[in-house]
Amino acid sequence: MRIQIRYLLVMLALAASLLGAVAAFDVIGATRAGGTALFWGVGGALLILAGLVWWSWRVGTRWAAYLDDLGTALRQLGEGRYDAFFDPGGPPEFAALARTGDEVARRVGEEMGAIKKAQRLLEAVLGSMVSGVLVVDSQARIIMANPAAVELLNLQGKNVVGGHYSAAIFHPDLTAGVPAAIYKGIPVRTELTVDQPPKQRTFVVSVTPLRGMRVETGAVLLLHDITALRNLERSRRELVANISHELKTPVTAIRGFAETLLQGGLDRQEEERFLHIMVDEAERLSHLVGQLLELAMLEAPSFQLQTELVDLRDVAAVAASAMEGAAREKGIAIRLHTGEEPVRVQGDRQYLAQAVTNLVENAIKFSPPEAAVTVAVRREADRAVISVTDFGPGIPAEHLPHVFERFYRVDSSRSRSDGGAGLGLAIVKHIMQAHGGEAGVESKEGHGSTFWLKLAAVPEETR
Ligand SMILES: Nc1ncnc2c1ncn2[C@@H]1O[C@H](COP(=O)(O)OP(=O)(O)OP(=O)(O)O)[C@@H](O)[C@H]1O
Ligand SMILES: [Mg+2]
Repeated sequence: MRIQIRYLLVMLALAASLLGAVAAFDVIGATRAGGTALFWGVGGALLILAGLVWWSWRVGTRWAAYLDDLGTALRQLGEGRYDAFFDPGGPPEFAALARTGDEVARRVGEEMGAIKKAQRLLEAVLGSMVSGVLVVDSQARIIMANPAAVELLNLQGKNVVGGHYSAAIFHPDLTAGVPAAIYKGIPVRTELTVDQPPKQRTFVVSVTPLRGMRVETGAVLLLHDITALRNLERSRRELVANISHELKTPVTAIRGFAETLLQGGLDRQEEERFLHIMVDEAERLSHLVGQLLELAMLEAPSFQLQTELVDLRDVAAVAASAMEGAAREKGIAIRLHTGEEPVRVQGDRQYLAQAVTNLVENAIKFSPPEAAVTVAVRREADRAVISVTDFGPGIPAEHLPHVFERFYRVDSSRSRSDGGAGLGLAIVKHIMQAHGGEAGVESKEGHGSTFWLKLAAVPEETR
């Protein structure tokens, strides 16, 4: 630009000089007699013309330089540099333009700053959301997926943006729902379960048309993971079913025998047998209700242990003496291997004794008559361990991961004959969890079992 203007001015100056010279020679030639006045007049005019050309050339050069600067500032503005400088100290003719340029740069800068801030805020919100968000365009292609959607739909490492939404989440309800939201503006809400081997996930998906924008712009898919809620509901249902089932058996038995007794006509011996059965069933009922209350209490948010310094050797002795009667009935000897040194933990004496008693009770219940049951207490590095070993039938490997679950029985017929509902070990697990410890089992079918409890041992120096 600057070169072009300069070139133009030089050409203008040359043309003017040439014209002047031709005119001067013409005049000199015409007035050979020598009109001095005319000569000087033409010469003066030529000088003025040359001065004008020189002045135009100077002004043009300044303008060209300034226009160059303006061009640079505009280019910078276009590149997103909103601090571009429009020099107000240039030629006065451009002062207004420079001011406007500065104003435009400032405003665009402010607007762009606000847009970027809003964008960052949106990204932060979408990034910290627990719910998944997928935004699709009018062709149902994904234009945005937030991190939660990527995690919930297992899309890590897959580039789904730009692809059809069904590649990310597919369900017949959505096949109808997404176009309905995009084209008809009808919001859709559906619950769907997605296979994510080895697990399944359940989502509530809300498909909402993009409002406030052009028609047929797209839709937003909002995903809430309700897997935990559904699992909880299922386990509640199972729990109620299990409790009802366990209560029904003794209640039905008591009612049946009571009705038979009421009808009369039984001899004394039969009556006594029925009454004994009724007492046994009532005991079973009360044992079951007691265990359920216990579990409910252990699971209550307000539950608190009464902790103190406890020697696990005392706990072992209490549990052994509590089960001595039952052991004697089967000819079983309970052996205590507790060592000379105390093995102390910070715990609730009563609950710890109950956990060990449950283990000893099982050991006796599942052992053959005359077998031995051992309760051992020891330290393992910074942990205190108490274990109960029996020489009973053991537990098949496939059942081992489940024995601490509520109502789980390896052989329900065998345990039922002993009156167990499958709650004893669930109580043990809860007691240990409340203590920050753990419970486990090692067992081999046909070779007996060792159930153990591990807790943080109180270090020597604080005793
Ligand atoms: N020492 C053991 N030897 C073999 N199997 C055991 C032993 N302890 C537990 N089990 C198995 O684990 C299951 C769950 O034990 P748990 O103590 O929870 O229930 P239960 O003894 O059957 O009934 P409850 O304790 O409620 O009276 C038992 O039914 C049994 O199948
Ligand atoms: Mg038990």
